[in-house]
Amino acid sequence: MERSPSDGLHPSPGRGADARDGEDRLRSLCANVPVGLLLADAAGAATLINERFSAIFGAPAAELLGQGWIGRVHPEDREVIDRAWALLVREGRERASELRVVHHGGTAVWCRWHAAPLPSASGPADGFVMLLEDVTASRSQREDLEASEERFRSIFENFPVGIAVATEEGRILRANPTLARMVGYAEDELVGRSFLEITHPDDLRESTRLREECAAGRRTLFNVEKRYLRKDGAAIWVHVTAALQRSSRGALEYVSLIQDIDARKKAEESVRQLSGRLLQLQDEERRRLARSLHETASQTVTLLGLNLQRLAKEPSKQAALLADSSSLIDQLSREIRTVSHLLHPPLLDEVGLAPALRWYADAFAQRSGLAVGLEIDDVGRFGQETETSLFRVVQECLANAHRHSRAKTVGIRLHRTNGKILLTVKDDGAGMPRQVLDRLRAPDASLVGVGLAGMQERIKQLGGRLEIASGGWGTAIRAALPVA
Ligand SMILES: Nc1ncnc2c1ncn2[C@@H]1O[C@H](COP(=O)(O)OP(=O)(O)OP(=O)(O)O)[C@@H](O)[C@H]1O
Ligand SMILES: [Mg+2]
Repeated sequence: MERSPSDGLHPSPGRGADARDGEDRLRSLCANVPVGLLLADAAGAATLINERFSAIFGAPAAELLGQGWIGRVHPEDREVIDRAWALLVREGRERASELRVVHHGGTAVWCRWHAAPLPSASGPADGFVMLLEDVTASRSQREDLEASEERFRSIFENFPVGIAVATEEGRILRANPTLARMVGYAEDELVGRSFLEITHPDDLRESTRLREECAAGRRTLFNVEKRYLRKDGAAIWVHVTAALQRSSRGALEYVSLIQDIDARKKAEESVRQLSGRLLQLQDEERRRLARSLHETASQTVTLLGLNLQRLAKEPSKQAALLADSSSLIDQLSREIRTVSHLLHPPLLDEVGLAPALRWYADAFAQRSGLAVGLEIDDVGRFGQETETSLFRVVQECLANAHRHSRAKTVGIRLHRTNGKILLTVKDDGAGMPRQVLDRLRAPDASLVGVGLAGMQERIKQLGGRLEIASGGWGTAIRAALPVA
């Protein structure tokens, strides 16, 4: 019988019709199985290769027989497959793995192979069989999926916004590290907890209402600004965007993005407090001026009026009345000047910052009994805003030292270096109370009175910096402003 080179079956002498039948069936099976198939002899040389196998390898069966197929394996996989095949032949152990084959055009095809010994009736294997499947498509799908999962995992892990997945009832299934940091829990401590558990009691009502609207199908998304309760009990403001959507497993789940807006909220709150306090101060100031005008100038004018009436009625007292009126007019003029100087020191516009500060500090020392030391250089003239702001800083610092510090002396230093004007006001008092210092150190520095906050705001608006240092030695306020 003529045997084709791809015939891997080993005829034994004296085979009958049954054996030939079996042989035909096997050949037809090999041709028709929907996988690549290779049969090898007991030495491991390929003796039969089906069409599918040669299609996967991109080469005619004749080139692949013997050890030919191994030569078409991708160079990087060749050594591994060579060794695996040798082991299979030597020890008869079944093996499976993946390999790449290279077509003539250079395209690489990923295949999954599975090889096993062909059992023989007696003793060692009679030959070997290898099944081969092209897995390029499913492998690239798997790689795409892995890459996209990796992308999402990295966003979830590293994004600076809190991300959580929760059940329809709001029970957390997954929370990313940013969210965990925000609320001070470990990620796995959050899992299983309900969002309502970490919601501030004052925001529970609104959060529950939004979830109920989602549950009732009236909305699928909501945005809300609310407070969470951190593990340490502190409240933190967050902005939540939550969407209810169906997961790949068919369950309804919330995906929430949570942004930390605590600093912004606190800044808004302190601006609100500050403007409220400013309005109140403005009212107090007006009342004080009204009272002061009423108690001084308006009394003096009344006396002047009386003098005029008496002049008409008592001509004999003319000289004395005129002298009295003249001194009343002097007094009136002093009183009006005091009030107007308080409102705005006219010296500042006329002679500039350094002389105006010297004048103000002297007057302050006299009135308060505080010793005020001056080291004021003639720094020249600046814009009106700069001069007024620095003047107000000194006014406020002196007032604070007098009201709060129990200091004996205050030093004011003003000088100019490298395009900057530097002003320091330092007292030797008791220093600021602990709670004031704590608030100053807090990142959102919500300030105590209007004084310090106002100073800071003025200097900041002019592009400068205000530093506050305080301790048992006293308090020093230092303003640095850029000047042309
Ligand atoms: N030189 C100082 N020595 C000790 N404590 C000070 C001094 N300056 C300020 N403080 C403390 O800081 C607080 C805040 O000062 P700030 O000037 O902002 O407000 P205030 O003086 O209390 O009120 P106002 O709004 O009228 O200025 C004061 O209440 C005081 O406790
Ligand atoms: Mg003050």
